[in-house]
Amino acid sequence: MAERVEILLSEEEVNERIRRLGEQISEDYAGKKVHLVCILKGASFFMCELAKRITVPVSLDFMSVSSYGSDTRSSGVVKIGKDLDEPLTDRHVIVVEDIVDTGRTLSCLQEMLKNRGAADVKLCTLLDKPDRRVVDVKVDYTGFRIPDEFVVGYGLDYDQKYRNLPYIGVVKFD
Ligand code: IMP
Ligand code: MG
Repeated sequence: MAERVEILLSEEEVNERIRRLGEQISEDYAGKKVHLVCILKGASFFMCELAKRITVPVSLDFMSVSSYGSDTRSSGVVKIGKDLDEPLTDRHVIVVEDIVDTGRTLSCLQEMLKNRGAADVKLCTLLDKPDRRVVDVKVDYTGFRIPDEFVVGYGLDYDQKYRNLPYIGVVKFD
């Protein structure tokens, strides 16, 4: 089966939206420090761009969780692969995710990280597919709401491919 990728959001659109998210976070956290928790691997490109646009002091940590294999459906299981390096005690945490689909990953993570003594845990996602929501989760910062299609690029993969595309695209099989 032949695969191709159609552009959904251009590099310019994505970068401009991230710049505005960075401004908003900088205003909301004025006088505080933010601790960004990047969910590997998908959110890595987004987090780097976002961190560059935040003007309050930023620290970073990385975590990997899995709810997907090489399939395009959620298994509903959230398993920690790589855990955080540093404690979260009293920190203003923002979990940075690539996409919210069923909502299982973020709602499970928020609960888990709140229990580690963070001052607060907010959620930030580049993309949201609201039509697919199974678990009700309040996302504080959203880049784009998109239709229910499988997307790749800007960190998102299909079977580990396409993460390096500088735009968001939809995978088409013909
Ligand atoms: P949730 O737990 O169902 O919200 O799953 C979120 C995770 O599923 C994301 O972090 C992605 O890794 C993966 N995912 C969901 N939709 C897509 C997509 O369209 N493209 C690539 N990965 C996706
Ligand atoms: Mg992910």
